[in-house]
Amino acid sequence: MYEFSKVDYPYIKKENGCRLVWADPQDNDKEKVIYLTEDDLSNLHSMLSQKAMGRITLEDNAGSIIVNEENTDFNIKGGQSLSVKTKLLAEKFLKFIEEQEGKVIIKCKEYNPTQHQQIEDVKNKLLSAILIAETKESLDTDLFHVIATRRSTRKFATKPIEDWKIDKILAAADTAPTAGNFQGFEVFYIKDPKIKEKLVPAANNQPYVNAPLVLAFCKNPSRVKLNFPPEVLKKFAIQDATLACAYSQLAASALGLGSIWIGMIDEEKVMEAIGTNLRPSSILCIGYPVQKRNPKPRRSLKDLIHVV
Ligand SMILES: Cc1cc2nc3c(=O)[nH]c(=O)nc-3n(C[C@H](O)[C@H](O)[C@H](O)COP(=O)(O)O)c2cc1C
Repeated sequence: MYEFSKVDYPYIKKENGCRLVWADPQDNDKEKVIYLTEDDLSNLHSMLSQKAMGRITLEDNAGSIIVNEENTDFNIKGGQSLSVKTKLLAEKFLKFIEEQEGKVIIKCKEYNPTQHQQIEDVKNKLLSAILIAETKESLDTDLFHVIATRRSTRKFATKPIEDWKIDKILAAADTAPTAGNFQGFEVFYIKDPKIKEKLVPAANNQPYVNAPLVLAFCKNPSRVKLNFPPEVLKKFAIQDATLACAYSQLAASALGLGSIWIGMIDEEKVMEAIGTNLRPSSILCIGYPVQKRNPKPRRSLKDLIHVV
């Protein structure tokens, strides 16, 4: 039996609507989801906020919602019927609406990893498949060698990056630890050459931003459903996004690629270029290095480490 669990942001696919999630109490990974479009969401909002009862026909006649005093039933055409106590739904739904400081906008196309399109994207299946897939090339799997030899690269060869390498770099971002495992970040994989060009002036005219592979890591504090003040959630989101970027950067090095971390960005210009209202934390530019260089000197460990 599925129980109503939460109202969620429709990250990725359905802009400006929401997700209603029912979970199996025996297995947290099993869930049923109903997507509401922006119009459906606003109809349900007006009904619940006025404590009204009645029927809402979903956009495109996709089904209906029947709100009664006791229960609210969602009947999706050709799909499941799910029910929730109206009081519980109103509580969670109205809180969710209240918490939205500005709607999350993510304009994008769906990402389909090249060789794994048949694998269902559930319970880390797709992620594991990408991470452990056999490769045509031998990889540097020695983490300490990878971190010791990584070096920022600002000159990239024109050679394109193989799709399987891109898949691994993206999958690496998804493995990073995040606050409460809420993954308070989004990755924008910028394929459109015109958007790449726009990112150069958005990054203080650093020309190497127009690289073979460009990823923008954005903070999404609205994903972090922890009961802390918004400033704390924002701090979590920046840490989540930063760490994910670092994971992708190391993955790129392990794959024999060079990369440059771009922190010198005009956030508004980046947001405009990639079409989101999520704030970027960094851009990661990746490609084959024209030249391999030795690691830069660092502080003496004795100076860096403070034993207290
Ligand atoms: C937070 C942060 C911001 C950075 N911003 C830029 C940047 O805007 N442009 C750039 O060319 N390099 C940038 N870098 C790369 C650093 O300059 C580089 O990592 C540093 O000089 C050490 O060199 P290494 O990466 O080769 O060890 C940034 C690195 C970090 C961690």
